[in-house]
Amino acid sequence: MFRKLSVFVALLIVGTMLLTACGGAAPTEEAPAPVATEAPPAATEAPAPMASEVEVFSWWTGGGEAAGLDAMIQLFAANYPDIEFINAAVAGGAGTNAKAVLASRLAAGDPPDSWQAHAGQEILGAYVAADQIEPLDALFTEEGWNAVMPATLLPLISKDGKPYSVPVNIHRANVMWTNPALLAEVGVTVPTNWDEFFTACEAIEAAGKICLSMGETWTAQHLMEVVVLGALGPDKYSALWDGTGDWASADVTTALETYAKVLAHTNADAASLSWQDASKLVANGDAAFNIMGDWADGYFSGTAAGGNLGLVPNEGYGWAPPPGTDGVFQFLSDSFTLAKNAPHPDGAMAWLKTAGSKAGQEAFNPVKGSICARTDCDTTLFNAYLQTAMADWATDTVVGSLTHGVTANPSWATEIGTALGLFLADQDVAAFQSALVAAAAAYPN
Ligand code: GAL
Repeated sequence: MFRKLSVFVALLIVGTMLLTACGGAAPTEEAPAPVATEAPPAATEAPAPMASEVEVFSWWTGGGEAAGLDAMIQLFAANYPDIEFINAAVAGGAGTNAKAVLASRLAAGDPPDSWQAHAGQEILGAYVAADQIEPLDALFTEEGWNAVMPATLLPLISKDGKPYSVPVNIHRANVMWTNPALLAEVGVTVPTNWDEFFTACEAIEAAGKICLSMGETWTAQHLMEVVVLGALGPDKYSALWDGTGDWASADVTTALETYAKVLAHTNADAASLSWQDASKLVANGDAAFNIMGDWADGYFSGTAAGGNLGLVPNEGYGWAPPPGTDGVFQFLSDSFTLAKNAPHPDGAMAWLKTAGSKAGQEAFNPVKGSICARTDCDTTLFNAYLQTAMADWATDTVVGSLTHGVTANPSWATEIGTALGLFLADQDVAAFQSALVAAAAAYPN
């Protein structure tokens, strides 16, 4: 019996190691057939010490994303050589697949030790509200993080004064990426308002190019929140989320009408493209513009060896605030949690210490295309785009992103996503606005 059990355990371990070596498995991937191996001697059958591994869950598997995570994993391996890192990343931009897998694991009482979560309502309105993660106030005190994490960010990860996650970065959602060579070829300058944008589209489309590239549904929602921000301005946009704004207002109607017009200048195959596919259309010169968060910077400028495009900022690609959003920084922050009843709490703490450290953030962010959450990183490590992001983060008006977890609790965000799916099919602005009004009333933060 013991021997049978140890063979089973050995097979399980080999299978897990193979899966990990393959870079973490998407839920639908089949596990490789286990390789038959000698059972370890009976004396080694005792379970491994608790801190011997850590399972970290994220959605960073693709260009730009995986490379950033790998940089942090390498540092973790150097700091904690005795702790095995299990990369449980599930593919799919913005966590579209990962969040569903995580929800079913949490429902089944099978949490990863630590998972990726956005600062704001995604943490406070979901994982904290459902009592699924541990407070980290002792860790913050021990590591001195209260002094080096931005004062704007701490309340978005805290309840009753206790932080519940470790932020690793600040991303900007409102960026319009451009192909400078294509713009020069068709004689177009970067538009600063939507009327200029529509005029630019005429020249770009006359040359047989896509004006604005877009991908699957969450990227359409990302575009929507940026257009709404530009139309409303930061105060009215933020008011929509704190209950003081009016989703039924004429301003929102105008914003949604503009959004519908913008959608008319996107590629017909958007629904089947990932965000990387859509960004690549700009990099290749097939499209002039793409509105996407600055993880696209990591993809544009990262090395080809890391699955990226290897472009030089300001040459191979350019950037600008999308129309109407100059002076506004629409932000989100990736962070990592400690699961309640984590199977390997010591391993999880080691991971969180790495993720929150200066060295961890300096390794991760220049590759990921984000700026440090910490305020003390070496700024010279960052490329030309990220230099502008650091400057703008310090001076712009800061608002939160819907699609990336800041402004709306997950129930509300899901309801908006459903309404948007219908709108993409029927383009009915009035019905869309009614659905947004109803969603705000049904699921306030
Ligand atoms: C966001 C996440 C970013 C990036 C992006 C695309 O939600 O915060 O780090 O991964 O999705 O996948």
